[in-house]
Amino acid sequence: MTSPAFALEALGIEKRFGATLVLQGADLKVRRAEIHALLGGNGAGKSTLIRIVSGDIAANAGAIRVGGAEAFDRGAVAVVYQELALLPHLSVAENIRLPRQRRPFEVYRAGRGDDSAAASLALIDPALPAAVLHRPAGSLDLHQRQLVEIARALHSGARLLLLDEPTANLTFGESERLFAILRRLARDEGISTVLVSHRMNEIRAVADVCTIIRDGRTVVDRIPLAEIDDDAIVTAMGQSRAVEAVAPRQSSAPEGSPSRLALRCGKLRVSLAAGDVLGLAGSPDGPMDLIGALVGVAPSRRWDVAFEGRPLRFSSPAEAVRRGVGYVSGDRAEKGILSTLPITDNVVAARRVARRTVLALADEVRRAETALRRLSIKAASVDVLPRTLSGGTQQKLLLARWLDVTPSILVLEEPTRGVDIGTKREIYEIVRRLAEAGTTVVWWSTEFSELAAIASRAVAFDLAGEPSAVLGAEDMTEVALARATGMAA
Ligand SMILES: Nc1ncnc2c1ncn2[C@@H]1O[C@H](COP(=O)(O)OP(=O)(O)O)[C@@H](O)[C@H]1O
Ligand SMILES: [Mg+2]
Repeated sequence: MTSPAFALEALGIEKRFGATLVLQGADLKVRRAEIHALLGGNGAGKSTLIRIVSGDIAANAGAIRVGGAEAFDRGAVAVVYQELALLPHLSVAENIRLPRQRRPFEVYRAGRGDDSAAASLALIDPALPAAVLHRPAGSLDLHQRQLVEIARALHSGARLLLLDEPTANLTFGESERLFAILRRLARDEGISTVLVSHRMNEIRAVADVCTIIRDGRTVVDRIPLAEIDDDAIVTAMGQSRAVEAVAPRQSSAPEGSPSRLALRCGKLRVSLAAGDVLGLAGSPDGPMDLIGALVGVAPSRRWDVAFEGRPLRFSSPAEAVRRGVGYVSGDRAEKGILSTLPITDNVVAARRVARRTVLALADEVRRAETALRRLSIKAASVDVLPRTLSGGTQQKLLLARWLDVTPSILVLEEPTRGVDIGTKREIYEIVRRLAEAGTTVVWWSTEFSELAAIASRAVAFDLAGEPSAVLGAEDMTEVALARATGMAA
């Protein structure tokens, strides 16, 4: 068999949704056995391009060649979905065999074909067939489901895997395992992967080459990651480089500064002053328990918390806000953004609660306009509804609310999840400014590289959600955080 240079060539792809041209000349060329990062800001068109390349939706113009063939071979390309792609009540073996059961009314007979399903699982990990083959797919965790998805793709003959933000909900250790598998499939089986991720450290660890799209157009066409630095990537994505590349770690408050927030759990103790940034790392139960207490939702089951020298006990989130504790929930859509109210109300919401006032409208509009300018939020006016904004812009809007009042404590839950690298830097800058103005920041993140860059101290929680260590700035590395949280050996 001849071996074509490219496993995939998508050239001049155009896609229109109604009146908007979402893709307007996107190229993506992927070599055999290559791990290829597809990069671009939020809304650049990455997911749309992936749906087109997989045959999920049709392009309005452009050419797609798979494995050198002129005809589009659907089976050779497979998207590895995050959720809902497996039938939960069927076994893993049945799920893997599904695409092969061509006749619609063919009755599944236990055992038939299970060997080939097991062989596909074994390509991923020799221990996997014994662990999952006969279990219902619905009983697997997210990471296992992803691996079964990959096995199913290989079983149906896929040579190119498409992974759209596959690590967003994985632990550090699971992400590392997924990447090791992708590397091995590339090396031993010649499988290619297209990977979308906003986590630059993982992209650099796993991918060989990248393509960058901006406003639906390919602006960097296949460049080795070794030849492009993060600044150049941000520039190519069309984002401002005004913000410093890496947010400087907050220096701890000077020796003897009064403690604003004192946390105690067994032998672990943390004392935070104005300007400190405390990172929370590890299994969600731990951070959620502490955050619930800090923002007035529920007392902590583990920690004694003192706020300005007295035991912290808020009767409600509103009281927490009035006492100067700000909160940006990780659940933007449900608990953060006031989606039916314009930007103005979103920006002044905290001030209204804190001061128990409704300010003169003109003043509110002025504040909202100032916030948009300071945070370079792109919106037509302060009257637009937030749901028309991208996820990253909504996140900046939530932070704008607290920039407007400068709280004594600001609690952030994964403020950069799913946010592109340029917007991430802007968010680091906003938080840095708040810390400089005297806010004590508590930041929960699943990205250890981010905590290592930003936090002056961190609490690590183990897999059971129990606090396991307090790390100081000097020993806070990605690897140390992964170890202390039980997410890496
Ligand atoms: N089904 C759709 N209908 C209308 N607009 C869409 C649809 N899907 C995506 N878009 C728009 O296309 C643009 C690109 O979206 P997407 O491909 O999801 O970007 P990315 O994955 O790079 O963040 C966005 O402006 C988005 O709002
Ligand atoms: Mg996307």
